[in-house]
Amino acid sequence: MKLTREQLETFDRDGYLILPDLFSTEEIKILNAEVPSIYKENRPEVTREKNSEEVRTAFGTHLYNKTYAKLAKHPRLVGPVVQILNEQVYMHQFKINGKAAFKGEVWQWHQDYATWKNDDDMPEARAMNIAIFLDEVNEFNGPLMFIPGSHKKGVLDAFHDTSTTNYPLWCCDEATVTKLVERGGIVAPKGKAGTAVVFHGCMVHCSSPNLSPWHRKTVYLSLCAVTNHIRQYKRAEYRAHRDFKAIECLKDDCLLDGSVEVPTPWALEDNTVLT
Ligand code: SIN
Ligand code: MN
Repeated sequence: MKLTREQLETFDRDGYLILPDLFSTEEIKILNAEVPSIYKENRPEVTREKNSEEVRTAFGTHLYNKTYAKLAKHPRLVGPVVQILNEQVYMHQFKINGKAAFKGEVWQWHQDYATWKNDDDMPEARAMNIAIFLDEVNEFNGPLMFIPGSHKKGVLDAFHDTSTTNYPLWCCDEATVTKLVERGGIVAPKGKAGTAVVFHGCMVHCSSPNLSPWHRKTVYLSLCAVTNHIRQYKRAEYRAHRDFKAIECLKDDCLLDGSVEVPTPWALEDNTVLT
């Protein structure tokens, strides 16, 4: 799959690109089927909301779940980012965000690169997210909100918010967001499960709490150009990976093909075999 010149221009102008129907209903069903067992895991990678036991973020699932291990090497996800960055990429972070019905909490206004720079010493903003909706995203279930064009501002001043949620985040202040919104407005990409959204590391974004009766599970691959790997290992490895090898993609139908297997080094049964 190749992005067209028009798509590349849209990404450059707006800082994000929506890819509707990137994954089929059958593929999404396979991915969703794994979620209950991941949510049941009692391990540090599976973090809960501040005010409930609902899963906020399941980090590093590609390192212990065989289906997500394949998703992390999927050509439809890795390909567009390689094309935009014009370089091979490695996995900086991989997560499923729960945003549970009624209980899913806020994500403050921020740029991802602020955290990657301040906490991980990533040299440049040559990294970005590609998100896949595991549920339909609508205006009610806490969609991502973007300020189009905000990525063009580069790295903005940020403050470290360690109290609003259970995820410490380098955030933008209200005056900065107000100014940026006056110029660019706010958009909230929506769509059915299987839609993907790729967005620049300097995109200013957030999401509101989910007060609807609908979950809003989303997978995020944070992919970084291999030469731009992080230099500082302050955060837990499951939040900022240290394997800087270029991702070798699997074939396009890998999720549907049961014979395709990828090693899962963090799987508990694999550890049992080792000891
Ligand atoms: C993020 O900004 O990393 C996640 C936001 C969300 O899932 O709403
Ligand atoms: Mn973010």
